[in-house]
Amino acid sequence: MTQAILREIIDYSNRADPYPLYEELRKTPVSHDGDGPYVVSTYYEIQSLLHDPRISSDARNLKSTADDPLGQGEEEQTTLPPSFLKLDPPDHDRLRRMTNRPFGPPDSPRRVHDMRGELSGIVSGLVDGIVADGSLDRIDLVDQFAYPFPVTVICRLLGVPPQDEPRFHVWAETLAAGLDPDPDADPARRHQGTTDARMELGMYLAGLIEERRKDPRDDMLSQLATADGPDGAMTTMEVLSTAALLLIAGHETTVNLITNGMLTLLRNPDVLRRLREDPELSVPVVEELLRFEPPVQLLPQRSTLTDIEVDGVTIPKGASLWLILASGNRDPRRFQDPDRFDPDRRDIQHLGLGSGIHSCFGAPLARQEAQLALSELARRLENPRLLEDPPPYRQNAVLRGPRHLPIACDGILA
Ligand code: HEM
Repeated sequence: MTQAILREIIDYSNRADPYPLYEELRKTPVSHDGDGPYVVSTYYEIQSLLHDPRISSDARNLKSTADDPLGQGEEEQTTLPPSFLKLDPPDHDRLRRMTNRPFGPPDSPRRVHDMRGELSGIVSGLVDGIVADGSLDRIDLVDQFAYPFPVTVICRLLGVPPQDEPRFHVWAETLAAGLDPDPDADPARRHQGTTDARMELGMYLAGLIEERRKDPRDDMLSQLATADGPDGAMTTMEVLSTAALLLIAGHETTVNLITNGMLTLLRNPDVLRRLREDPELSVPVVEELLRFEPPVQLLPQRSTLTDIEVDGVTIPKGASLWLILASGNRDPRRFQDPDRFDPDRRDIQHLGLGSGIHSCFGAPLARQEAQLALSELARRLENPRLLEDPPPYRQNAVLRGPRHLPIACDGILA
């Protein structure tokens, strides 16, 4: 049964619209057949588990390889050490605090806000580039806009030279694909692929970190590599896995929020028209998008540190848990009329950026990027329309979004 659920979740034919499957799943908040992950699909159960200290993000706590279909425990031990995404307190809290020092409050409360002008400049330049690129009869919003934007931003923030992007694009894609549960994939080949990618990315970043230690600049890589605050300094390996985490998170998520966003707006022309007239609407639009079409559909890397009971089901110690965030976001026990895209909702406490101690570290940046991107596209594209609906999706079921978003428009305003 779990294998059947797993197969359905990753089945590519469900990618464009996985929501009927999630509706089916929610009839049993915790699904399991005695072999493989426990799949949790309802809002309150997911929310509770995300805040429960008996739940671990460290794959080394998984009982057996059957519970670790992604081979996560092994992978982490053979290359870079786990990033704080995959650690529990106290190490998680220490590393997250240290990483936040050059990024957010209390030490750098203005950092994300101060990037606003720079982000607007990148967005305008990319939209200008669409005109320069040629035909407005066929624009791929992913390749021409939604991918390069967050990648440029994360590179600048970290201090990674943008001309190296094609190299780590390949590593980022391989590592993101490694998150995708695929029971048919050859585990050894898959494991080798992610191990190689982590190793190559690690070696690339190690070179940069050494340069920044000798010659620090005003970028996060320099600050992480040289900082020595109340928690002490990060080891080189800790800087490496933190930088890799930020780079991947900055590559593979915001692109899908922007693309899912434009797709949803083009399917809801009234909201697109309102956004064109009122850029401030981008704030509730982005929140509702994080509920309605979340770029991270599920979290497949939790495990139980002890036996726990959820909705009458006893989940044994060491079991793998999959938390289907996108299903929780459409739970009618939590949201009225959940399948309606409605930026006027009063209460959008969605799970799109996670919740609890691992909730998205980059959330203020991701929100700002998506708000700027969508309001600029709404303002500048004249009469935009979808050329394919649904568009072709990426294979990835965890980080879900269109691979291409072909659109056309009549012109691009200044
Ligand atoms: C729309 C874009 C984004 C979405 C939907 C998203 C979503 C998420 C989610 C759901 C989690 C929770 C993972 C878990 O509980 O296991 C998370 C964690 C995280 N995100 Fe994001 N993210 C986005 C953008 C970013 C960006 C731009 C960055 C980097 C600047 C980033 C950095 C992180 C980090 C470092 C964590 C781990 C936090 C921890 O373990 O304490 N994210 N994100």
